[in-house]
Amino acid sequence: MTRTALVTGASGGIGYALAAVFAANKYDLVITARGTEKLEDARREFETRYGIKVHVITADLADAGAPARIDWELTSRGLTVDVLVNNAGFGTWGLFEDTDWQAQTGMLQVNIVALTQLTRLLLPGMLRRGRGSVLNVASTAAFAPGPLMSVYFASKAYVHSFSAALAREVAGRGVTVTCLCPGPTASGFQQRAANTHIRVNKDRELAPARAVAEYGYRAMVKGQAVAIYGWDNRCAVFLTRILPTSLVARVVQFLQAA
Ligand SMILES: NC(=O)c1ccc[n+]([C@@H]2O[C@H](COP(=O)([O-])OP(=O)(O)OC[C@H]3O[C@@H](n4cnc5c(N)ncnc54)[C@H](OP(=O)(O)O)[C@@H]3O)[C@@H](O)[C@H]2O)c1
Repeated sequence: MTRTALVTGASGGIGYALAAVFAANKYDLVITARGTEKLEDARREFETRYGIKVHVITADLADAGAPARIDWELTSRGLTVDVLVNNAGFGTWGLFEDTDWQAQTGMLQVNIVALTQLTRLLLPGMLRRGRGSVLNVASTAAFAPGPLMSVYFASKAYVHSFSAALAREVAGRGVTVTCLCPGPTASGFQQRAANTHIRVNKDRELAPARAVAEYGYRAMVKGQAVAIYGWDNRCAVFLTRILPTSLVARVVQFLQAA
């Protein structure tokens, strides 16, 4: 039986790697992002290499109408989504008081609202069919306050909380919800956030996107609710849970500084 995974933000980075992992596991794909050219390149590559069918839907998830339009496209193309991978997301670096408001609302729309709305649109079908999975990409940022990336960290805390709650709501009904939490990963993320120069990213090898994607895929298959990539990240998250929040915020501020 052919299964289909919808991957948002599949034109690069972790989303592209996730799409490749689903393709290697013989899923047909619906891939979406803003950049049509990169999506078309990915479509050609996955169809040739893995012999699967790939559908491209170009969409800007910062646009409030995008999730409903994606759902409409799925219906009109007769596509059923077995796995929803809410991966698209971005961050901006700097003091909150200096941030560009349009970028902040765009971030909230992409990281939170679109993820939530796509889940609302596609989860009922999965529950009706008694099978399916949602794989939400949060971050280790979900577990700490994030001075210098305050809105981004808070948006990922939302993704983690929302996913953990949904995982409970759907438990035992054939559908799973997994929250993948990568730490710093090699992708276009740092460039877009303009934070390649900060302590946490500088002079260290970032995790490969493919390894993060494979880890997330395996966690989804196991029905794991939360999947934190890497033992170092799991240790860091453990510390955020036992240390006072004010101390965690200080440490994160140090790591986020140039
Ligand atoms: N890299 C890290 O260190 C790291 C760590 C933890 C969590 N994460 C999370 O991992 C996820 C993937 O990020 P990444 O690291 O792979 O970054 P990336 O290389 O910048 O990829 C982001 C993807 O999201 C898409 N995207 C961005 N804005 C969009 C919009 N407005 N509408 C639709 N698609 C949009 C991009 O495509 P277009 O530009 O073509 O739209 C791209 O495909 C994000 O949720 C991020 O928060 C990343």
